[in-house]
Amino acid sequence: METVIYSTHKFEKDRLLNANINQHNIRFLEVPLNCDTAYLAKGALAVSIFVNDDASAPVLEKLSNAGVKFLVLRSAGYNHVNLEKAKELGIRIARVPAYSPYAVAEHAVALMLALNRKLIRANNRVHELNFSLDGLTGFDMHGKTVGIIGTGQIGSVIARILYGFDCRILAVDKSENKMIRERFGVIYSDYETLYKESDIITLHIPLSSETRYIICKETISKMKQGVMLINTSRGALINTKDVIEGLKIRQIGYLGIDVYEEESGLFFEDHSEDILQDDTISRLLTFNNVLITSHQAFLTNTALDNIASVTIYNLNCFYGGGKCENEL
Ligand code: NAI
Repeated sequence: METVIYSTHKFEKDRLLNANINQHNIRFLEVPLNCDTAYLAKGALAVSIFVNDDASAPVLEKLSNAGVKFLVLRSAGYNHVNLEKAKELGIRIARVPAYSPYAVAEHAVALMLALNRKLIRANNRVHELNFSLDGLTGFDMHGKTVGIIGTGQIGSVIARILYGFDCRILAVDKSENKMIRERFGVIYSDYETLYKESDIITLHIPLSSETRYIICKETISKMKQGVMLINTSRGALINTKDVIEGLKIRQIGYLGIDVYEEESGLFFEDHSEDILQDDTISRLLTFNNVLITSHQAFLTNTALDNIASVTIYNLNCFYGGGKCENEL
């Protein structure tokens, strides 16, 4: 029984092989899963995909026709999977619910600090022997108000880190986390207050029909002038065109993103020889107060090892005939 792993990246292949220790017959593919590549799963009972693979209804139908019964996500987020369709087709789905909230939270804070202290500009300058400090002034994190939207696994680590900076921490979540309220002084509030009072806003909620474009023209207008916006969650939480308008009028003072709503087909790949066709990201790249990383917040040794071992564990559960606690 074969397992096909789509979107295999160099940084994960050896880890998956090590975690597998020849238990499963794995075929690695570098191509992403989509309508054109689903046929490659023929002969496989299980398929594994990454964050930018397409597991929409038509693709799932093709996988089902190819005989696939189990879809293993090498991610925590599952916004790219049509769960209803999978259920209808009898395809079971498992994910890696938490591989390292620290990896993502620390990257979000790295974006905050790099933007605030203009580290990228400063580094570029000194490499050109320009040691001037003009234009590099930052602000103390100490005493600033940070708004965390979503205090689940990642958002609560952010709270822990920012507590160390002595920030005032506001949060919004559907359910309050008592531990971070008591230990790190997190103040749960409503969106209006968070938008109005935060110097930095960082997003840690999943993408759903409810949260899509939660950051848009209307919500941006409620924010503090010059706010720093950080998104390491999913690109479509923010309406990028509205954010560009916000940057142009300096309502948004800084933008740090690890995710982009049109990242599929762009992020994780080398396009340095191509003509960039995406005018939205092209515009974003013209702002010196915008920092973009290509979905690398998860990319630490700890997280990669955990993704590999939980992926193989999920396959063990499936092929062993048992129920898996990581199933959706
Ligand atoms: P989690 O499930 O532990 O936390 C999400 C929190 O959001 C929960 O506390 C939930 O109650 C809250 N929430 C959901 N909908 C909400 C709404 N409409 N309003 C307010 N709160 C709401 O998830 P975790 O592990 O903290 O991850 C958060 C997101 O980070 C994931 O959904 C994923 O999209 C993203 N992520 C990004 C990675 C990267 O490499 N850039 C890696 C891993 C996750």
